[in-house]
Amino acid sequence: MTRIAVVEGDGIGHEVIPVARNVLELLHPEFEFFSVDVGYHRWEETGCPCADRDIAELKTSDAILFGAITTPPMKDYQSVVLRLRKALDLYANLRPVIGNGFDIMIVRENTEGLYSGIEELSPDRATTLRVVTRKGTERIVRSAIRLAQQRRGKLTIGHKANVLKSDVLFRDICLAEAKAAGVSCNDRFIDALALDILQHPASYDVIVTTNIFGDILSDMASYLVGGLGLVPSANIGDRYALFEPVHGSAPDIAGKNIANPIATLRSAGMLLAYFLDESGSDRIEAAVQSVLAQGIRTRDLGGSAGTREFGEAVLHILRQPDTGAVSL
Ligand code: NAI
Ligand code: MG
Repeated sequence: MTRIAVVEGDGIGHEVIPVARNVLELLHPEFEFFSVDVGYHRWEETGCPCADRDIAELKTSDAILFGAITTPPMKDYQSVVLRLRKALDLYANLRPVIGNGFDIMIVRENTEGLYSGIEELSPDRATTLRVVTRKGTERIVRSAIRLAQQRRGKLTIGHKANVLKSDVLFRDICLAEAKAAGVSCNDRFIDALALDILQHPASYDVIVTTNIFGDILSDMASYLVGGLGLVPSANIGDRYALFEPVHGSAPDIAGKNIANPIATLRSAGMLLAYFLDESGSDRIEAAVQSVLAQGIRTRDLGGSAGTREFGEAVLHILRQPDTGAVSL
């Protein structure tokens, strides 16, 4: 029995997650779903956004479908998403950005770097420790190398080794691992890389980088495909896996039925691919494409369809018998 934990979280998580869940329930009626309620709203109600027993429950799942969680700008509030990524050791954050003539996979280290959580605050000085370890770098670059080998065989390392000693370590380990694996590899400073991705997206295959750089790069790269409503992600560790849109809880549009559910639908597609159901994943993408081709779009893509209407249109297509033909 495949057990899927569902975390709607906050904001538009309550709108986009039901759309993706409906699709998974349709394609895999044998999956068992259970909800885990964590997030900022829980903190407002109980003073605790995510309890140890919530994490224990998530650990009983085979995969987690995750919306987004609000992190308020309060001094003592610890980000739930960061806590989960660490607690479940979801070290590889995979963020595919696919558009006309390009197919980029951003592989973001997800457990250390500048998001180490090691911080000190005093009224006049604040420090955050940027941690890069050999173990953390080896496992992320090995994930990136495996992906490159399954794809077009090209790896790019994004770093700032000209300034940060921690990135000298990151870059050198990545270069050595790529060389040992026989994968074609180049490295770029992250700032120059950011511009070049926008100018020449077709020249990239797999990009591996540290935590915060991958965070920023993926939001930026979403510009190439129509914005944050479109880019999915998988957070993969050795034991657990969590699938979520790249975007956050979008409080500015929450509760209005206007959020684009495509990023979350594609995250559900990545979940199916994780269980080796490539055909289910392809069917979700094909359905999304044909709904878009019908002119049904949410507001961020210039349309007027609601989140629910878009989801219904996708379900309608998926309910038609699967002929086995994938029209991508
Ligand atoms: P955001 O990604 O939530 O929103 C940025 C902009 O993109 C907003 O204008 C929003 O309306 C738009 N947008 C995002 N998703 C969209 C969608 N599906 N359809 C249409 N428009 C969409 O980032 P922001 O505003 O920086 O953060 C809001 C909250 O989300 C914060 O509390 C932040 O900490 C949290 N967050 C949580 C994440 C997670 O749970 N993994 C990731 C990123 C942010
Ligand atoms: Mg982000």
